Amino acid sequence: MATSDRIPSSEITPPEHYFNRRAVLRYGAAAASVAATGFVYRKLNRPGAEAIETRPLPPPQHEPESTPTPMPTPPKETASASKPPVEKPAQHASSGFTTDERKSTLQQIGNYNNFYEFTTDKEGVAGLAAGFQTRPWTVSVEGLVHRPKVFDIDEILRLFPLEERVYRMRCVEAWSMVIPWNGFPLGKLLEQVQPMGNAKYVAFQTLLDPTRFPGQRFDVLNWPYVEGLRLDEAMHPLTILAAGIYGREIPSQNGAPLRLVVPWKYGFKGIKSIVKIALVAEQPTSTWNAQIPHEYGFYSNVNPNVPHPRWSQATEQRIGEFGRRPTLLFNGYAEQVAHLYKGMDLQKYF
Ligand code: MTE
Repeated sequence: MATSDRIPSSEITPPEHYFNRRAVLRYGAAAASVAATGFVYRKLNRPGAEAIETRPLPPPQHEPESTPTPMPTPPKETASASKPPVEKPAQHASSGFTTDERKSTLQQIGNYNNFYEFTTDKEGVAGLAAGFQTRPWTVSVEGLVHRPKVFDIDEILRLFPLEERVYRMRCVEAWSMVIPWNGFPLGKLLEQVQPMGNAKYVAFQTLLDPTRFPGQRFDVLNWPYVEGLRLDEAMHPLTILAAGIYGREIPSQNGAPLRLVVPWKYGFKGIKSIVKIALVAEQPTSTWNAQIPHEYGFYSNVNPNVPHPRWSQATEQRIGEFGRRPTLLFNGYAEQVAHLYKGMDLQKYF
């Protein structure tokens, strides 16, 4: 965080010291220290905290291409320059698309981040991400599909109207927020490329460019950051690609220009700054699972009954709140997603 009252950790500690494999162990260590996190939350809540750099979302230009879809979609309207950039979703009572829980502020969402391509210092990401160039940007959707395509980010934004989704976000480190995303169902993009019958999983990849991501100059993780979902998880209406927050472009520190959001899974499944999406037959690698398989499972569904080997997952610290609150199975989305895991041993497939 580039505040005037704070010296960035990069100026105190040489990068080769703070970007090392031990930093991986720091991931989660914060969860064990309620005192330390309490200090952070007070700082994030103080008046006059650093403003978040973000631009308004462009208004939609064209009527989206119509494709057959099993998703509950918002009603189509004729696009015009005066049309607001974000549509309210169909508010099915049990859709999970929104919540009346208090939303985290943009200050909180944009000043406490995990984005190791910039730094392992949660409060340092915003400062380093300022000015990150997100144009030109392409997303290749490929693999076991009939119509592979490299999409320009602005084409994606024209094709799929952004909907507001207010989701709980639960980090594996046991802190949480409530974030009003602006995005569209990932399933709509996948339908455009027509997955083949043997496609069973979806693999995602972040941009690899150490000239723009200073953290990629160090081997703190195996770059590029990769993630994966089962195809049915990817097609679930709750799973979105987000391009905005609070009706504005998604701040760089939160994964501009496009990031994955899967609200019933731990936050690290939400891969940021995506450049490639591939349909594949076998379960793909995911960065944290490959790094420490016994701590970070491929599924990583939020589950208060499956402790992390180094801390309990029974409760969480909602940023901005005093005290802890109980963690909910599937992060409170069990009604919508529990059927995806019917018959699976959630202790084994954690
Ligand atoms: N994606 C990339 N490419 N690199 C990362 O380091 N961190 C993950 C996830 N996506 C990460 C990433 C983790 S650990 C979390 S908790 C969330 O992003 C944090 O998202 P936020 O900073 O927007 O809250």
